Amino acid sequence: MRSSILLSAFYATAVVAAPSYPKFEADAATPTSPDDLSDYFSMLASKISAGVDAGSAQSCDLSNAVLPTTSPSPLPSVSEGLKLKHVAIGRGTQNYTCDLSNTTAAPAAVGATATLFNATCIASAYPDLLNLLPRVALAFNLTESSAYPANLIPSTTGEVLAPGNYMISGHHYFINSVTPFFDLNTTNWDLGTVPSVKNATATAPEGAAVGQQGEAAVAWLKLTAREGATGKLQEVYRVETAGGSQPATCAGMSAAFEVQYSAQYWFFESDS
Ligand SMILES: *[C@@H]1O[C@H](CO)[C@@H](O)[C@H](O)[C@H]1NC(C)=O
Ligand SMILES: *[C@@H]1O[C@H](CO)[C@@H](O)[C@H](O)[C@H]1NC(C)=O
Ligand SMILES: *[C@@H]1O[C@H](CO)[C@@H](O)[C@H](O)[C@H]1NC(C)=O
Ligand SMILES: *[C@@H]1O[C@H](CO)[C@@H](O)[C@H](O)[C@H]1NC(C)=O
Ligand SMILES: *[C@@H]1O[C@H](CO)[C@@H](O)[C@H](O)[C@H]1NC(C)=O
Ligand SMILES: *[C@@H]1O[C@H](CO)[C@@H](O)[C@H](O)[C@H]1NC(C)=O
Repeated sequence: MRSSILLSAFYATAVVAAPSYPKFEADAATPTSPDDLSDYFSMLASKISAGVDAGSAQSCDLSNAVLPTTSPSPLPSVSEGLKLKHVAIGRGTQNYTCDLSNTTAAPAAVGATATLFNATCIASAYPDLLNLLPRVALAFNLTESSAYPANLIPSTTGEVLAPGNYMISGHHYFINSVTPFFDLNTTNWDLGTVPSVKNATATAPEGAAVGQQGEAAVAWLKLTAREGATGKLQEVYRVETAGGSQPATCAGMSAAFEVQYSAQYWFFESDS
């Protein structure tokens, strides 16, 4: 319950953020426990409300949002001619399997599943804040309803998405072992769908947020669209990752297990 309500209350406030924003002090509050996090979200929400100007247009200037590129080896840049369409905070799990007959074998990555929350306005207004969000989001567990894969959401049962989860902008899952899929068509926005393929990998930077059990942050990625994408979606970046990595070996693990993670996902579209 908690994560989606807090996240969505927070984003909902941002919808009407005005062009001038109060300064966000990243150092002023570094969350350490769920109680701190609750205060933290209230603080952030009030900072963003303070920037609201009822007379201003309810839009966010995407040209202010800059894809994070710092990592030990930078990912290839966004292809020529593409423009930013959407920024989301993904919260979910990385899935792994283990060969139980071999405790020295490494777990195999078998996909991931995540709920995507609209962070586009935050990306344009508060890049510092955006970069803290995966870390913050990882401290919360998703509700059953917000973790639902898009294809399983019964369109007639309004209670699945409402009211706490209304700022969900999509779902991420794998349609086969080499095809990460992003469904950005929800009851909130129809931004498109994109089956993708891994194009490049970069180790997460030193100091990246660890997981709920201290797991290292998964790599940063560049993904490119496979045939069949809609909404002109062409490229997806996974950056500012938190948690999600598997242990070095299968010792003590079960045949299939999940590791909680969060990350920023940046979606780029073609002009035409
Ligand atoms: C949600 O996403 C759309 C598309 O990126 C964007 O236009 C809109 O401003 C976003 N809303 C918020 C609250 O971030
Ligand atoms: C990964 O985890 C999700 C969430 O529990 C689950 O629904 C899915 O079946 C898992 N996928 C694999 C390949 O194990
Ligand atoms: C167990 O896994 C390790 C590491 O992958 C490998 O070197 C070894 O050959 C495997 N042993 C067996 C019996 O499969
Ligand atoms: C999140 O779920 C995990 C188990 O999946 C549990 O160990 C952990 O305590 C939960 N964390 C919170 C903040 O509820
Ligand atoms: C998803 O949204 C895109 C872009 O608006 C649209 O072209 C596409 O038909 C939608 N797909 C589905 C399955 O609704
Ligand atoms: C990554 O994308 C670029 C540009 O589309 C392409 O030239 C390159 O072959 C791709 N690399 C991989 C490993 O897929």
